[in-house]
Amino acid sequence: MSRFPLIDRPRLWGTAVSHYQVEGDDECDWSEWERSGRTRGGACGAAAGSWERYESDADLARDAGANAFRFSISWSRIEPNPGSYDGAALDRYARLVDHLLAIDLEPVVTLFHYTHPRWFHERTPWTSTESVARFAAFTARVADALGDRVRVWMPLNEPLVFLLAGFYDGQIPPGIADGRLLPKVLDHLLVAHCASAAAIRDRSPGAAIGVAHNMVAFAPERKGSFLDRMLARLAHRSYNRGLIEAFGTGRWDFLLPPTTRLRGRRDDLTSSLDFFGVNFYSRLHLRCPGRERRIGEFHYRDAAGRGLTDNGWEIVPEQLETMLAEASAVNLPLVISENGIADAADRMRSDFMTEHASAIARAESAGVPVHGYFYWSLLDNYEWLDGFGPKFGLYEVDRLSMSRFPRPSTATFRRLGQEFLRRSHEPRSAEAAPYSP
Ligand code: FCB
Repeated sequence: MSRFPLIDRPRLWGTAVSHYQVEGDDECDWSEWERSGRTRGGACGAAAGSWERYESDADLARDAGANAFRFSISWSRIEPNPGSYDGAALDRYARLVDHLLAIDLEPVVTLFHYTHPRWFHERTPWTSTESVARFAAFTARVADALGDRVRVWMPLNEPLVFLLAGFYDGQIPPGIADGRLLPKVLDHLLVAHCASAAAIRDRSPGAAIGVAHNMVAFAPERKGSFLDRMLARLAHRSYNRGLIEAFGTGRWDFLLPPTTRLRGRRDDLTSSLDFFGVNFYSRLHLRCPGRERRIGEFHYRDAAGRGLTDNGWEIVPEQLETMLAEASAVNLPLVISENGIADAADRMRSDFMTEHASAIARAESAGVPVHGYFYWSLLDNYEWLDGFGPKFGLYEVDRLSMSRFPRPSTATFRRLGQEFLRRSHEPRSAEAAPYSP
């Protein structure tokens, strides 16, 4: 029986946060990275203080009209030393889940959202096969603690972003820039996903498992340049479709310029998912060859004429429709697991959400099965390398008092949610259709 969509909650409309970006004071590989001065935007520190405020934050999501709450678990809090688990940290998340259920929000739990315990990269790095067992053991502890109360799980957030930034560009921990490691690391991440999914299903047979795939629209910087056009096509083929094919067929085979070939096969990938998550934000313009970067130059620019977001990203809602059509090849229910805008003045956020909601509605009319949408983010938070600069929140956070203030566009989020939840799908058949690119 298909575990997703949920029978009693066929559509999810929610907000997303991740542990490190909101909780505060989490000792992990990222906090070490900050101390070594390798972030542009400074240290995370107390973040948005959500570790103490999760319940009232969940109330804010509900007040804004959400029926689901996506958050992630801090591996470094749960397993500060290898094999030694912190019961109080597990209880903290269990209390949050209880609260979510009490206020009728569906908990959607991500297990890996970029950060690791500090010991991980030394003892069992993603280049080693032991990484898989470690991640599965961590998953098992969390699943034991949260039990059947969590029905929707996402073991990995954006595995390709982590792979490329962590092992190719070396911009985020573990900060390695060695293309030769990529095939092995990707294989381990995908196997870890399967092992994590199996550990969850062992404990909670009805659980729905997903993955959050970052999808980016790519365009040639110079339309007249054959090489730029080729690069944009290759980027789409590799970055966007590579993972869709992997989950759709159990095989992957794609190229990262200039010469890295990622190729592998894991048959259990195809049965590991109940839904496919798309994280979508923007479009990159690519120029070949790259002078500064190995995979070519890429940047954002306002080609669509809607203006750039505060962090300089192009706004291209119509591209979400294209990405959803692409992702539908995996033949699973789709969820937009992240979509949002950095807009401190809240001048563009309402239009941004409205236009993306229209793109979703168009995709649905064309037969794409969209079952959820999560706005990134509930709160202003710590945006990784960019620190606290970009303000993605439906709620503004005053970091001195940690008070939260709704931005006016929260009303738009609520209205769009009502419309989204009113439309419903026929339940899909239990028989999964085959991958169909
Ligand atoms: C996504 C990340 C998320 C957040 C947004 C802006 O790629 O998953 O943590 O930083 O970008």
